[in-house]
This record gives sequence, C-alpha cells and structure tokens, in this order.
Amino acid sequence: MNTVTRMIPDSAAMEALGAQLASCAAGGLVVHLSGDLGAGKTTLVRGGLRGLGHAGAVRSPTYTLVEPYEFPDRQVYHLDLYRLGDPEELEWIGIRDLLDDSSLAFIEWPERGAGVLPPADLEVQIDYVENGRQVRLVGKSAAGERVMRQLDAMDN
Ligand SMILES: Nc1ncnc2c1ncn2[C@@H]1O[C@H](COP(=O)(O)OP(=O)(O)O)[C@@H](O)[C@H]1O
Ligand SMILES: [Mg+2]
Repeated sequence: MNTVTRMIPDSAAMEALGAQLASCAAGGLVVHLSGDLGAGKTTLVRGGLRGLGHAGAVRSPTYTLVEPYEFPDRQVYHLDLYRLGDPEELEWIGIRDLLDDSSLAFIEWPERGAGVLPPADLEVQIDYVENGRQVRLVGKSAAGERVMRQLDAMDN
C-alpha cells in the first residue's frame, strides 16, 4: 500500500486531509505538492499546520520561498517555489541544512527546484474534478509508505 486517493469536495475537507497527513508524519518527511494554481496545495498545508496547533495565518511564501513554523516537537517548513528563478537559489537559503531528519517539509512547485531539492518521501498530486478536487498521495520511501498505511487506516 503506497497510494491513497481521496475525493475532496471543499476546502474544509482539504484542510482536514492536511491535518490527518501531519498527524501521521512523525519524524522527518519531505512532501512534494503538485497541482495547478488554485488547486488547493496551500489549503492542505494550512490544514496540516492548524492540526499541529498553529493558530495564525498560513499564506503561500511565494516571494520569500520558505516559511518556517516552530512546534515543540519539530520544525515545519512550507516552501513555494513558484517564483524560483534558478534552483541554485535554494542553496543560498541553505535548503540542505534546513531540512533535517526531524523536520516536516511541504513543498509547492517542487519541479522548479529539481536537482537541488531533497527527494520526496511523499508525492501529492491535486487535480480539479467536477465537484471539487481529487488528491492522490504516493509514498516514495519507507517513511512515506508508513505514512500512507496510517492515512489509509483513517476515515475519509
Ligand atoms: N475541494 C477544494 N479543495 C481545496 N480548495 C478548494 C476546494 N474547492 C474550492 N477551493 C478553493 O480553491 C482555492 C485553493 O487555493 P490554494 O490552496 O491557495 O491553491 P494553490 O496553493 O494550489 O495555488 C481556495 O480559495 C479554496 O477555498
Ligand atoms: Mg499555494
């Protein structure tokens, strides 16, 4: 079991999925989020952060590339590489040191950081469907597959 597919009717359901995902992701995990503008990538991340206890706003860090969030037991990093000109810019923000084995990273537009970005433990693809979104999550490592097994065992 390394793939989970969910139908997500509205943004509340997308936030709920993000919260489930974050609750499964103990230890370090790199999550790549793909999907068109407005698909719901940031909404999923917002749900994850809220689920972990973050009370403030969550916006896509389009201009700053990365937004760190600190929790008692771990760091969460939200990256949005939409405006990344050159993957080398990721070296300048110290991407390799940022992501250690206890941090959770959500990365929007990961293809723009190809070659520099750490590989995904989990790939999330969000597609528009008639009445909402379809989300397909694929575990790409042992850690990612562990999360998929836990997520699959949870109610939709
Ligand atoms: N099923 C759904 N899942 C997620 N977002 C939805 C859904 N239906 C409508 N929306 C809306 O679509 C927008 C998604 O925006 P956002 O999460 O910023 O997308 P992205 O980060 O992929 O560009 C929000 O305005 C949200 O309210
Ligand atoms: Mg976004």
